[in-house]
Amino acid sequence: MTISTPDPARGDEIVALDRTHVFHSWSAQGALSPLPIAGAEGSYFWDYAGNRYLDFSSQLVNVNIGHQHPKVIAAIQEQAGRLATVAPQHANDVRSEAARLISELAPPAHNKVFFTNGGADAIENAVRMARLHTGRHKVLSAYRSYHGNTATAVTLTGDPRRWPNEAGMAGVVHFFGPYPYRSPFWSTSDEQEADRALEHLEQVIQFEGPQTIAAIVLESVVGTAGVLIPPAHYLAGLRELASKYGIIYVADEVMSGFGRTGEWFAFNHFGVEPDLIAFAKGVNSGYVPVGGVIISDEIAATFDDRVFPGGLTYSGHPLAAASIVATINTMREEGIVENAKTVGERVLGPGLQELADRHQVIGEVRGFGVFWALDLVKDRQTREMLVPYNAAGAANAPMVELVGAC
Ligand SMILES: Cc1ncc(COP(=O)(O)O)c(C=O)c1O
Repeated sequence: MTISTPDPARGDEIVALDRTHVFHSWSAQGALSPLPIAGAEGSYFWDYAGNRYLDFSSQLVNVNIGHQHPKVIAAIQEQAGRLATVAPQHANDVRSEAARLISELAPPAHNKVFFTNGGADAIENAVRMARLHTGRHKVLSAYRSYHGNTATAVTLTGDPRRWPNEAGMAGVVHFFGPYPYRSPFWSTSDEQEADRALEHLEQVIQFEGPQTIAAIVLESVVGTAGVLIPPAHYLAGLRELASKYGIIYVADEVMSGFGRTGEWFAFNHFGVEPDLIAFAKGVNSGYVPVGGVIISDEIAATFDDRVFPGGLTYSGHPLAAASIVATINTMREEGIVENAKTVGERVLGPGLQELADRHQVIGEVRGFGVFWALDLVKDRQTREMLVPYNAAGAANAPMVELVGAC
């Protein structure tokens, strides 16, 4: 790997321009000091001062294939030279092939894909499909969740990013999903946690009125809110409840999909088939912005004779589609999903456990594939969190110190 010749002055210039003109996500703009990135390859990126960094978070948990994979870059370049853009109403070779490849990875009877620009609008459109298909309005989602930044997606989100944005959508109801290490149900085993979480969910459904609920939206493995792997039969139980009450099960696979957990989709670990599957991130490792919804044949049929009232100028953009085709084919050829499983079993799992053996601050290590979290505690016995939920300022100082050290 050749990293670019250091040029700290250029780095300073880029940061100064950024601070003058770029408005950043989720931030008070005044306090920002972004790291200028000069280049990247594989698992590494580097700055203008010549420092190389291991990209341990894969940017925003999306560069599953690694940086600058030559086959994906070549596919985008080839497509740019041939047909750089085309409106969504036309048929297009790479778009059709991308949709075919994605459907092939999904459960049987999921043959259609609606392409979006990213994950949030995938959720947005999945919910719209569920509402139109069922003729119902309400949508259930978990408190510990993140579903994106559009009106519906951020209202479905359980984490504090919802609070300042909440006027978005009526009819969203939150429930508690399973979290064995910090059980909201006072359970003492994974099995009990799943049973009680399912009982709670069924009560929420009954009290909200099953005939009013269009969809349950759930990350198959909760990502940003703490890499929460559902206990063995939870998703199967949720699938059963959804079917029992005629509710659409929407799996949010935006972060957990395309190899992150050592399977193409995280729900594959649990033998369930959602009705709608929202994807983005790993589908093309973010080389071109894209997301989408994989649609069950039954829901797709709703829109055979009835207009689907939704669309995007860039739905199925050819540069995104070409990058998806190259990404999926390359991930298959190189066994990247299997590799994620192996890295989890042989490297990350044992390595993180070894860290936990040495550091009392680690209360629990959990994860699989290349999707892991350390639950940090003040005290292992009481499991008191290292900093309180949504801590800020002085209360959050231990996390600032830890992240700084990392
Ligand atoms: C589970 C999940 N859903 C949806 C989203 C939103 O995706 P995007 O940022 O592409 O809109 C994210 C983003 O992190 C996510 O983690």
